[in-house]
Amino acid sequence: MHQIAVLASGFGSNAEKLMDYFQNHPQIRVAVVVSNNAAAHVLSKAKERGIPVEVLPGPAWEKREKVLAVFDSYHVSVIVLAGYMRLLPPYFVDTYRNRIINIHPALLPAFGGKGMYGMHVHRAVVESGAKKSGITIHLVNEQYDEGEILFSKYLEVLPEDTPESLAKRVQDLEHRYYAPVVEKYILSSLHT
Ligand code: GRF
Repeated sequence: MHQIAVLASGFGSNAEKLMDYFQNHPQIRVAVVVSNNAAAHVLSKAKERGIPVEVLPGPAWEKREKVLAVFDSYHVSVIVLAGYMRLLPPYFVDTYRNRIINIHPALLPAFGGKGMYGMHVHRAVVESGAKKSGITIHLVNEQYDEGEILFSKYLEVLPEDTPESLAKRVQDLEHRYYAPVVEKYILSSLHT
């Protein structure tokens, strides 16, 4: 069994899709949902489904042994980020090298990097006049949004699009593709 830890800081609509997609999966399951934010809505979504949760606030991540012990206690082999708002420490990226997946709500390498999250991304896309946006699913390394790209899907930015209308269509793509792409990557590239 591949045991996933989903890391999320906020609402958790993508985390919810992941939890549901893998609910009865024969080879993959969401073993734990981890947040840096004790008030994150995603934690109640996990609890509703009987999935364990852990809260690791920013400073807790400095304690390498303790953090890794938390993940080990769930036999975690894959980390899936779903709106996780903090940069992971280098020791963590190193421990889970090629086993940390993120989704970005635009077509990387454009509109990525520090500060490019949520509506900031969609506002920048609309203001730039870009004709396309979409989603990028990628591996995580020590830099924001720079790891190997596993999958991307584009959509047309319409002349009448606002950041809000674009965000909605991008989110639909995220909800449709994130879990199946994670599944495919795990089953084709990772050993338990
Ligand atoms: C998503 O747009 C994802 O691309 C980004 O953070 C957002 C999380 O939204 N990394 P939600 O909390 O899953 O609704």
